[in-house]
Parts: sequence; structure tokens; C-alpha cells
Amino acid sequence: MAFESFGTMQVNEVGHLEIGGVDTLKLAQKYGTPLYVYDVALIKERARGFKKTFEELGVKAQVAYASKAFSAIAIYQLMHEEGLSLDVVSGGELYTAMQAGFPAERIHFHGNNKTRQELEMAVDYGIGCIVIDNFYEIEMLAEVLHEKNASVSVLIRVTPGIEAHTHDYILTGQDDSKFGFGLTNGQAEEAIRQVLAIDVFRLIGLHCHIGSQIFETTGFKLAAHRIMEQLVIWRNELGFHADVLNLGGGFGVRYTAEDQPLPPSQYVREIIADVRDVATSNRLDMPEIWIEPGRSLVGEAGTTLYTIGSRKEVPEIRSYVAVDGGMSDNIRPSLYEAKYNAVIADRPLEVAEETVSIAGKCCESGDMLIWDLPLPKSGAGEVLAVFCTGAYGYSMANNYNRIPRAAVVFVENGEDKLVVARETFENLVQLDLPLH
Ligand code: LLP
Repeated sequence: MAFESFGTMQVNEVGHLEIGGVDTLKLAQKYGTPLYVYDVALIKERARGFKKTFEELGVKAQVAYASKAFSAIAIYQLMHEEGLSLDVVSGGELYTAMQAGFPAERIHFHGNNKTRQELEMAVDYGIGCIVIDNFYEIEMLAEVLHEKNASVSVLIRVTPGIEAHTHDYILTGQDDSKFGFGLTNGQAEEAIRQVLAIDVFRLIGLHCHIGSQIFETTGFKLAAHRIMEQLVIWRNELGFHADVLNLGGGFGVRYTAEDQPLPPSQYVREIIADVRDVATSNRLDMPEIWIEPGRSLVGEAGTTLYTIGSRKEVPEIRSYVAVDGGMSDNIRPSLYEAKYNAVIADRPLEVAEETVSIAGKCCESGDMLIWDLPLPKSGAGEVLAVFCTGAYGYSMANNYNRIPRAAVVFVENGEDKLVVARETFENLVQLDLPLH
């Protein structure tokens, strides 16, 4: 596959892949592999791009980074510096954000099964908003708030009944979903009635998220349209006005040349145009728009460096080239059959001479990173750079086979900064307790 660069990526004067002005071979040498490398300038460009689009449209908005895509103190701090809000989905993400010094009032808390402890934690921190997902949560959160003599802003998550075109496992807006209150079956309306009747809630609006890695705008527009039309009905019937409409994330990125995402700003422009239309024609005040991009902020900014090790030839069938990571640092190919592109870091422009399949080192046949990748001839010890691993790579990393999790480094303007240290063997056993 041809080399197509992302962000500040380029081939430097010695012919090596360079990101953020730093030679990737030097990074591999300095920090070891596997190594996640993030192009900070590209993350900033994306963050600023989203904000600017709303400014140009004259729409009041919040851009919240969906931190499930990559959660670590440094990325929370970067997003804070860029003036973004934050979406968290667990006590762990919330805790990390607080450790990063992220202002609690700009954090939105999601999740289809938040525990009482997580809700208490969020209320104690003074969270900006809780996105209520189900009836059980309405009751439990009301109890928590009454006990604490506190109140909180909430959004109600609705499932608008949209089938977006993406992998089934990352679809979320369809009727048959574990998330949110159905718009078409009356559950959303019932939730609004219940929440409005409880004095410790400030119901500021609605939330929906239709799925992830979506390329077309149709699904987003349809969802926004349905909700806006429903808001007109609820205004008339319940006197309910949504100050905020949170349209979630899901904007696609380019893993390989087959993926043709729109520029992030175009998703926003098209969706807003639709929301505006419904608002204007029904004399509904335009709600403040919140979005929650994850992948489109950090996905293309991440590249994983691996060291090539063993090679296995299966005559007339396949050449397996194994690297020192795999489903432990990137589970997406095994889980979603996700496709990636890669190059040899010291000669990304060299013409491919063979087709190989990149295998991980885990004890599992499904631990394949890339099937049928055209590459120049490669050998043990060389560095392979896999592109677009910035979203749901580190955040879904695991210790299968007790492989320590890889380190994360940020690069910008010729400087590199370690932001997550490599896990050690000692780390791996630190929670284990002996039998005797
Ligand atoms: N908001 C909500 C409520 C979400 O559930 C998600 C993703 C997002 C925002 C961010 O979506 P994004 O902009 O990143 O597409 N592990 C899967 C993706 C799961 C996405 C879950 N929710 C993957 O690796 O493809």
C-alpha cells in the first residue's frame, strides 16, 4: 500500500519516517517498542477545527473529547489546554481526568450502568453533567442527590432508531441497543416526565450517539432531525425545552485508502444546517449543540512502532511477519476485522516487493494486525510503523499473555515526551497475592 501521510508525518532527509519533526527510528531506539507515537499538532488541528466550525456557524457549542478513544492524564491536559470539554464513561476515566486537573464542570458522565459509587463520585467532584441512560439510573441518581442534598445538570440519552452504516459492534443508535431511552417506543418521553418531576435534576437537554467510524452524514442528520421534531412535540405537550442537544461522536477516519471520511467540519456543517431548519420552521429556540468526537480527534494522530521478529513462510500460501505487539496493544483487527496500513520506518517510500501478513505475538491465531500487506523485503530488527492507531488502541490495550502495555510518547516540533511509561513485569504482578 502506498505511503499516505497524516498530520506532520513526512520522510526526513535520511529517508526515515518522521512524525512531529522526530525520527521514528530514534523514538523506537530511545523508548523501545511497541510504542504509540502521537502527533500533537494534528490533535490540536482537529480540536481547533471543530471549535472553529461552530464559531463560523455562529452556533453556541461545546466540543467534548470522548476520552474512551484514548484516556491518559496527558491527553486530558492537552484537551483542556485546547478548551475542549470531556466525555467520560467510568469512574476510572473520571478519576484520571480529575488527576489531570480537568475542570469537573466541563466533564460529562456517560454509561449504561453507572454504579452508585461512580454517581456519588461524580456528584462529589461537582461534575458538569450526567447523561442519564436508563430508568434504574434515574432512581439511583435521585437517591444519591437527595442523600447529599445536592442537585445536578442532566441530559437524557435517547436512541433515535437509526441504523448507521458501520460495524454492528460499534452501532449505538438503533432501537435494539443497550444504550438510552427509545424515542419511538415512548421510553424517552416517560424518562423526560420522570426527570422533570424530580427537583434535584436540572434537565438541560437530550443526547444521542448513533455509532462510530461513520462516513456519511445521512445518519447523523436523520437522528438530529428526528429529535428536533420530537422536541417540537414535547414543547407543545410537556412545555419541555432542550437548551442542549448533544449529538455524540462517530465521525470516521482514514485507516486505509479505502476509507474516505469527510473533513470533520463538514459533518458539523451539514448536521447544523438540518437542526437549524427544523428549529426555524417550528420557531424553536436553537439549542446549544454539543458533540463528542473521540476517534476523529486522536485516531489519525497515533502511529504504533513495532520491531519485526520472526517470519514464517507457508509455501504457496502466506508469509507471516511477526511483530513484538499485537492484540495486546491493538485489539481492533481481532475484534472488528479492522484494516490498517503500515510501512517500514526507515524506508517508507520504498516500493513493495512482496505481500506479507503482520502477526502479533499473542498465543492466538486471530492475533493478526494486518492481512496481505504489500511491503518491501523486511528483516528481523526492523521497525514497522502502523498508522492510525491513536483511537481505541492504548485505551483497549490489555495484558493477555501477560504482555506489558506499551509506552506512549507525544511528539511536536522536533521534541518527544514520554506520557505513559511502558508497563514493567513488576507492574504486572503488583496486584497478585501469593497463595500461601
Ligand atoms: N459519544 C458516545 C456516547 C459514544 O458511545 C462514543 C463511542 C463516542 C461519543 C465517540 O465516538 P467516536 O467519535 O470515537 O467514534 N472501540 C470501538 C469504538 C467504540 C465506540 C464507543 N462509543 C472501536 O475501536 O472502533
